[in-house]
Amino acid sequence: PEAITIQDLANRMAERAVDVIKLLMKQGQMLKINDVIDADTAELIAEEMGHTVKRVSEADVEDGLFSDEVEADELLQPRPPVVTIMGHVDHGKTSLLDALRRSNVVSGESGGITQHIGAYQVEQGGHKITFIDTPGHAAFTQMRARGAKSTDIVILVVAADDGVMPQTREAISHAKAAGVPMIVAINKMDKPAADPTRVRTELLQDEIVVESMGGDVIEVEVSALKGTNLDKLLEMILLQAEVLELKANPDRTAEGTVIEAQLDKGRGPVATVLVQKGTLKVGDILVAGSEWGRVRAMLDENSEQVKEAGPSKPVEVLGFQGTPEAGDMVAVVENEARAREIVDYRQRQKREKATLRDIGSRGSLEQMMN
Ligand code: GTP
Ligand code: MG
Repeated sequence: PEAITIQDLANRMAERAVDVIKLLMKQGQMLKINDVIDADTAELIAEEMGHTVKRVSEADVEDGLFSDEVEADELLQPRPPVVTIMGHVDHGKTSLLDALRRSNVVSGESGGITQHIGAYQVEQGGHKITFIDTPGHAAFTQMRARGAKSTDIVILVVAADDGVMPQTREAISHAKAAGVPMIVAINKMDKPAADPTRVRTELLQDEIVVESMGGDVIEVEVSALKGTNLDKLLEMILLQAEVLELKANPDRTAEGTVIEAQLDKGRGPVATVLVQKGTLKVGDILVAGSEWGRVRAMLDENSEQVKEAGPSKPVEVLGFQGTPEAGDMVAVVENEARAREIVDYRQRQKREKATLRDIGSRGSLEQMMN
């Protein structure tokens, strides 16, 4: 049910809250400034105070923001797979990605621990693959859950000398919950203590049966350190992607997901956006959660400026007014007025929810004291 606090209602009418309270009192309701009234009461009060009421429902504001219709086949074009790398801490996820894209992210990480999600695109024999690196540390469950959601394939990295560990299991359950196919990369095969058979056996406990054990989950033995079998891994990813027949319409306004976002001292809010449909362009006006912005610049994983980004492309987007949240859905809208309308509405919703929560907890405290 729609509700509003007296303070919020007064603010929106540019009236004094005390006058609202007086009016309610005349109608026999004794309420305080932070009390919540329902939408019908609010409407009566507003009219009585000489305001015209335009109720804006969620349906009005959010309508048409995301396309839910199935797109015509002839508009769809193949898009690169989005592959999320998951696994227990220190099992070599970032090293594997570094080896695949011949970069060195690991050495720049503090304590060698990944603390945020990274997104990169690599090209293999004319095929692009988008990789999302996730942290393995126990504290980052939310990031892993989100990582599994916006992906097409999960690469489960398991260190051959360490075996299946708690966050390996957690990653498996995220992949299962998201219904995403998995490829197992048994890493650190160069180590003398490597025991891939043990890994395969342990995986059975989570009902992951790899191919060499007669199941249908692809497994590849690799060494990120020595670069062993990486071509095979890429080949398996592309094979799996082919089966999935991934397609999107690039010729429409963009939709996507915020992978991560932060406030940068020099550049302002920076959001890593994974484009999922359409093409995002510099100058586009977009909304993400309760923030909006006009795309001032876009950077790819090599910090090169790009003018546009099509399906499956991860880009850093500059130009947001505020910092959106990881996991927010992104949509491009026709103009600034529309963006403001949506964001105002969502921010109000957020505030009202917080107020209701507040009042809820205060109420129960009062009950406890009685
Ligand atoms: P988090 O992101 O913190 O979960 O760790 P991670 O899974 O990204 O592991 P990372 O790539 O940071 O590697 C952890 C350690 O394992 C580093 O010291 C790597 O050098 C080492 N390592 C990674 N892959 C291999 C490998 O194939 N062989 C050997 N011997 N060491 C490896
Ligand atoms: Mg890492």
